[in-house]
Amino acid sequence: MKNLLFESLEKDHQIIRERMAELKALVNRARPDEERCLELFRILKATVVAHAKAEEFVLYAVVEEPHNAPEKELQHFAYEGYEEHDLIDFLMKEMGTSEEITLQWRAQLNVLGEMLEHHLSDEEEDFFPKISVLLPEKAAMELGEAYAKERDIIFAKKTGTRPAVSLAPSLQHH
Ligand SMILES: [Fe+2]
Ligand SMILES: [Fe+2]
Repeated sequence: MKNLLFESLEKDHQIIRERMAELKALVNRARPDEERCLELFRILKATVVAHAKAEEFVLYAVVEEPHNAPEKELQHFAYEGYEEHDLIDFLMKEMGTSEEITLQWRAQLNVLGEMLEHHLSDEEEDFFPKISVLLPEKAAMELGEAYAKERDIIFAKKTGTRPAVSLAPSLQHH
């Protein structure tokens, strides 16, 4: 499964896990810096939304309207994925309205962490390996570029940074 598309997707899953771990560590300090926690949360949220929307745009779209029987067999992954993305988004939006770290916010952060981990590992262990064998190398390359571009635009929009401030692995190295 070595190609630009799946390398980028899995690298971004790792970035999401790292930001979640960093945020949890900060929140669990004896006297957490609440402003810094909420700032980190905003970055985590933008990272997750940018990843999920770009993933839907390039990858879920392939199996949502399948062109052949093997793709049709993977259709349910897209439908399940959309539902999980929506639930994750709903919870993050709710958390985004909070101006302080309450007990409820801490509980929501834990649930978010569990939902994310479940979703990311399902994709990595089941969906990605199955769809990657159906995608010709050239298609995966093009989808990989489209994914990185889309993700950077959404991340920039959400955080107010320019797309040049990319978390993308450089395409030239591949
Ligand atoms: Fe996903
Ligand atoms: Fe994903």
